[in-house]
Parts: sequence; C-alpha cells; structure tokens
Amino acid sequence: MHRIAVIPADGIGPEVTREAMKVLAVAAQKTGFRYEAVEFDFGGERYLRTGEVLPDSALAELAQFDAIYLGAVGHPDVAPGVLEHGLLLKLRFELDQYINLRPVKLYPGVYTPIKDKGPEDIDFVVVRENTECLYCGIGGQLHKGTPHEVATQVMLYTRHGVERCIRYAYELARTRPEKKLTLVDKANVLTYGHELWGRVFAEVGQEYPDVQQDHAYVDACCMWFVKNPEWFDTIVTCNMFGDIITDLGAMIQGGMGIAASGNINPQGVSMFEPIHGSAPKYTGQNVINPLAAICAAQMLLEYLGEKEAARMVDQAISDTLAAGRIPDLSVRSGLKTDQIGDMIAQAVADG
Ligand code: IPM
Ligand code: MN
Repeated sequence: MHRIAVIPADGIGPEVTREAMKVLAVAAQKTGFRYEAVEFDFGGERYLRTGEVLPDSALAELAQFDAIYLGAVGHPDVAPGVLEHGLLLKLRFELDQYINLRPVKLYPGVYTPIKDKGPEDIDFVVVRENTECLYCGIGGQLHKGTPHEVATQVMLYTRHGVERCIRYAYELARTRPEKKLTLVDKANVLTYGHELWGRVFAEVGQEYPDVQQDHAYVDACCMWFVKNPEWFDTIVTCNMFGDIITDLGAMIQGGMGIAASGNINPQGVSMFEPIHGSAPKYTGQNVINPLAAICAAQMLLEYLGEKEAARMVDQAISDTLAAGRIPDLSVRSGLKTDQIGDMIAQAVADG
C-alpha cells in the first residue's frame, strides 16, 4: 500500500493533477497495486487566506508519505519568490531531495524545433544537484540603495553534496543503454567550486569502469543540445546550470507540455512535478495539456517500484502521441485537459 501526498497547488496545477491522478488510478487497477492519495491545499490561495505557506507541522506530516505529487506553484497575487521559496524549495531542501531528475526524451510524433532530429537522437536524462550551489540561500546586501551597494549570492558546494549527486548519476548511467556520463560545468572559470566537481567526478568514476566519462562546459553544452543532442545519454551538473539547461532540454523534447521531473531523496521521501509553472491566465479553462503532469506520475510509479504500471503509462503516452492523436502540445491543440487525460487513461486500460 503506497501513501501519496498530493499538492495540486496553484493555477492550472489542480486541473493537470486531476488528470495525472486519473491515469494513476487506472494503472493501479490494471496492475493491481493499492495506494492512498491524500490531498493538501498548500499554495497561493491558502497563503492569501491564512498567511501560511508550509508550516513545520505539515512538513513533518509530508515526511511520513512514500511520495509527494506536486501540481504547479505560483500565484499572480503573491509576490514572486514567496511560494517558490516557501513551498517548492522548502520541500526540496527540508526533505533533502538532493537529486532533480529530468528526462529529456522526444516521444514519436512530437514536434521538436531541432531540424532532422528524431526520437532516436533526443533521449537523455539530466541529473541536477538539488540542494546546493546558488540555491543555498547564502548571501547578503550592504549599503542598499546607495551607489556603493554590494550584493553577494554564494555558490556553495560541499564534498558530501557533490559526491552523493555524482554517485547517483554514475549508478543511473550504468542502467542506461549507452552507459555514458557527461559532467557539465564551467571549470575553466569556476576554478574552486567546479574544480571540486571535476575531481570528485574523476575519483568516483574509478568505481565505475563500465561507465564512459565525458565532459562539456555549460555554454558548449547548450550548443550541443541543439546541434548534436544524440551525444548525450546521462548528464550530471550543479543546481543552477541544471535549472537552465533543462529548460532548453524541455524545448527540444517538445516543450513544457511534456517535461516532467522528480526531486529525489533515495533514502527518504521524493516529490514529482511537471516542469511547467502554474500558467495563471489559463486557470480553470480546461485547455492545458496534462501530459507533463502525467509524465511526472509515470516517474512517481517508477520510483515506487511499480515498474509494470510505469511501463504501461509510458507506452500509453508514446502510442497516443505516435498515432498523432494529440497534434500539438500547446494550448492550440484543440483538445481539452480532461480529453487528453481520458485518452491516456483509456490507452492504459486497453494496454
Ligand atoms: C524549476 C523551477 C524552480 C527552480 C523555481 C520555480 C524555484 O524553475 O523547478 O526548475 O529554479 O528550481
Ligand atoms: Mn527551472
């Protein structure tokens, strides 16, 4: 019996979460596993009502679940940063979800803006470190508002943090077809922080002789994503660069309408979410394609060890897209949110 905490949160979050849960329910029925989904109302609306984003008591409660599913965070009436820091980043940090796993996979039948590249070329996964780097929240401001104003934002790495991330990436690379791991950094400029990354990458790599090691500077990596995405199999990188390159990754796999991610604590509670935001202007209109949310549910199934269910959902997404039944992943698809959810759920049921 799996216990899943569901936080639909803001904007179109609840709409896409509903479809993801619909597909999950069918997959459970089909493969015969049992689960309990408990919904939580954290997000912008609750914050505006109560002034509370994520109380510590809730954090303790969430920590008791097997996994967390998150819809989307961001509310037009809440200052930028409040919900991002108070909900999303707080969960990632407090639950020590030190890996942000982001598959970049082009499904058949999906439009990629990269000319002459297809599903066989665009299939890799980015392992983004998720608790350190520029996200650590260390820094300060001095002489604010004066011409002598100073601002710092610390790019912090620990041996422990870097090593556990790199180790996770090697383990993952080992399970992938090409067994190739690319370290993406800026070691030519960040001669302290990324020197550490390079050193740990080489050291840990000695334990993985079966994994081919590769390296790319982050700026060049952006170039290769567009020019030769087939060069990548597994990528490991720091938090900030991982944030940036995975938005580019999402675009080459068909856009925000299909990109999902997992915030993983291999020893604790992990959380799954679509990469897209809360798209406030489309709230309640039933026009957002829920595939990214469904892909996040697929990752959650995989993580819970429901391999057959995860495989079936992946197959259902792939078959539906290959058949051209979802001509466009944007709001211009002409399809409703629940129609797409029904399509995938039906494909799982028929699978
Ligand atoms: C992401 C998002 C978040 C991040 C924001 C919303 C804090 O962009 O999940 O990639 O920067 O990690
Ligand atoms: Mn991002």
